[in-house]
Amino acid sequence: MAVLVTGGAGYIGSHTVIELLNSGNEVIIIDDFSNSKPEVLGAIQEITGKDFKFYEMDYANKEALKKVFEENKIDSVLNFAGFKSVGESVKKPIAYYKNNISGALVLLETMQEYGVKKFVFSSSATVYGEPERIPLTEDCRTGGTTNPYGTSKLFIEQILKDIYQSDNSWDIAILRYFNPVGAHESGLIGEEPQGIPNNLMPYIVRVASGELKELSVFGNDYDTPDGTGVRDYIHVVDLAKGHIKALEKLEKEGNGLYIYNLGTGTGYSVLDMVKAFEETTGRKVAYKIAPRRSGDIATCYSDPTKAKEELGWVAEKNLKQMCEDSWNYINKRGK
Ligand code: UFG
Repeated sequence: MAVLVTGGAGYIGSHTVIELLNSGNEVIIIDDFSNSKPEVLGAIQEITGKDFKFYEMDYANKEALKKVFEENKIDSVLNFAGFKSVGESVKKPIAYYKNNISGALVLLETMQEYGVKKFVFSSSATVYGEPERIPLTEDCRTGGTTNPYGTSKLFIEQILKDIYQSDNSWDIAILRYFNPVGAHESGLIGEEPQGIPNNLMPYIVRVASGELKELSVFGNDYDTPDGTGVRDYIHVVDLAKGHIKALEKLEKEGNGLYIYNLGTGTGYSVLDMVKAFEETTGRKVAYKIAPRRSGDIATCYSDPTKAKEELGWVAEKNLKQMCEDSWNYINKRGK
């Protein structure tokens, strides 16, 4: 199988490329390094001992994209090229809608022109908005997103449903990620947010390393066991493996639009995460209680049963491994 991976040098893209190469696929990566670094490509080679094709380009560049489809016999496409910062999306809605939605449309249009109809889309638990019920199953109500990033995911899901409706020879998997954390066990690739991190785990590791002074815990008055927000953290390598299973499903069964939650099914609070990190690494994480962050919800975790039953996929790595690998990456980077 020749798999085109847009955003393949990014955090989730690069971990998925490793799993694709390790399971014998031919890989073609597109990335413009707008939120990633060229060194990641060398790290992928070092980790897998395998080669892949690479094009440095914006995935929304139609002419360049056509060239990629001309030069390669692509069977399927995994799209990781979306912008993903919630806060930034509120400040730059046009940039987010343009990159995430127009980019996806250019990609899907080009796929159609070249008769490539297997597509795996990186969606997010954010499409559930305020959860209808917990744990979240795939048939829970979607909508009510509170930022352009989340809304772009919701819109693309709808676009994919409409495409499938118009032509059911497409094979589409929509994967709703919960909260990806951790890094490859080699410590050679990991999450590298630009500037001060918005997400919890990258913030925790930078407090533990001394790069940042203290964590602000956004609210301790939620209706949760300890008052802090509860999320479904999932190791990025487990998440990457979910994509391989989804691709296998599209190859085997074909002709369908499938939606899966990729999560562990277990919720941890912010303070659980701080404690687990301290216990695993032996480092102290200084924190203070701060006001709630606007747009946050109290509790969000998945019911991952559908992915287990239909894909044979379950998240295998526990919280300790998530903490260990996040910490290992930070220690190796920059040395
Ligand atoms: N939190 C803090 N302090 C911080 C950062 C986060 O207390 O400095 C808390 C948040 O309030 C929340 C929890 O930690 O309770 C997790 O926050 P993250 O920012 O790590 O993750 P979110 O659940 O807000 O959002 C993430 C991704 C989104 C995705 C969403 C899907 O960032 O892209 O999960 O559920 F849409």
